Amino acid sequence: MITDAAIDIAVKKLFDEIEFTKEPAGLYDPLRYMIAIGGKRIRPRLCMIAYALFKDELGDELLQPASALEVFHSFTLIHDDIMDRSPLRRGVPTVWKKWNSDTAILSGDVMLIDAYRRIAMAPASCHAEVLGLFTKTAAEVCDGQQFDMDFENEAQVPMADYMKMIGLKTAVLIACAAKMGALIAGASQKDADALYEYGYQLGLAFQVADDYLDAYGDEKVFGKPIGGDIVNDKKSWMVIRALEKASDRQALLEKMAMPSETEEQRKAKIDAVKAVYDAEGVAEDAKSEIARLTGLALAALERLDVPSERIQMLHRFADSLIGRAK
Ligand code: IPE
Ligand code: IPE
Ligand code: MG
Ligand code: MG
Ligand code: MG
Repeated sequence: MITDAAIDIAVKKLFDEIEFTKEPAGLYDPLRYMIAIGGKRIRPRLCMIAYALFKDELGDELLQPASALEVFHSFTLIHDDIMDRSPLRRGVPTVWKKWNSDTAILSGDVMLIDAYRRIAMAPASCHAEVLGLFTKTAAEVCDGQQFDMDFENEAQVPMADYMKMIGLKTAVLIACAAKMGALIAGASQKDADALYEYGYQLGLAFQVADDYLDAYGDEKVFGKPIGGDIVNDKKSWMVIRALEKASDRQALLEKMAMPSETEEQRKAKIDAVKAVYDAEGVAEDAKSEIARLTGLALAALERLDVPSERIQMLHRFADSLIGRAK
């Protein structure tokens, strides 16, 4: 059986040894930077865990498609940081800050192309299915990102619309990672679909946790600026829940409309909105919601036709995400 430790080693080796085109450096250095600064690499890890449910060795046919998930994810972050005007990622300056937006756009584009090159190395037995899954997923992530941006201009967003939006921008890629590992391992359609559902529900929990950490995380650990969602008028899980609960909704809407041009104004706005979260117990609600969604993810595992000691890997993976601080 493939162990968690073997998967950790394989993920590390994959990205220590990953190669990108060398020239022009202005195009490829930002790619190398993005991959070298790491991140949690949960998507390739999940892909490997899903594969390990069905196989006893980590085969070479898995590695390039697994790396594609991380290259694609990192591409979305490069563009997301332009869109969200974010200066910090993984504890270091974002690509558009360190270079400029033009560089971040084109390096992001070539990163997406590089991800496709890697996906196309999926084995012949599942080539069409993997390519179709990845293409559908990649388009859905763009759909989700557009909803996320559209919501910045809306005063209020129903929770159901928020869930649909994060399903697209975040959950489908995590679901795709799980299903892809299964497809490459030759799993049945039923098992592959159960893993997709696990990844999807876990992905929803993951984005709610990201929204919680955006308000309550420790910047040094989280690696991203705290309060960015409040400053950007994002309709995060936190603010949607606060608007649902607030005893004085008008007062919260006024705080959300505070200016954020200067550093002082941003701090004042973050403090004012977070004071409402504190008063309404929104952080506790977020934790319950993360636990509820993770429960739905684990329930999907009951449909798997796999020995239970192997399924435990997916329980441990879910636990590691629930308790995350970064
Ligand atoms: C950040 O993803 C974007 C979200 C979907 C919330 P991660 O939290 O996986 O970021 P890295 O790759 O570890 O930096
Ligand atoms: C991330 O949403 C979704 C994608 C990158 C597709 P966020 O905008 O919340 O991610 P962070 O917080 O910048 O990592
Ligand atoms: Mg964003
Ligand atoms: Mg962002
Ligand atoms: Mg975020």
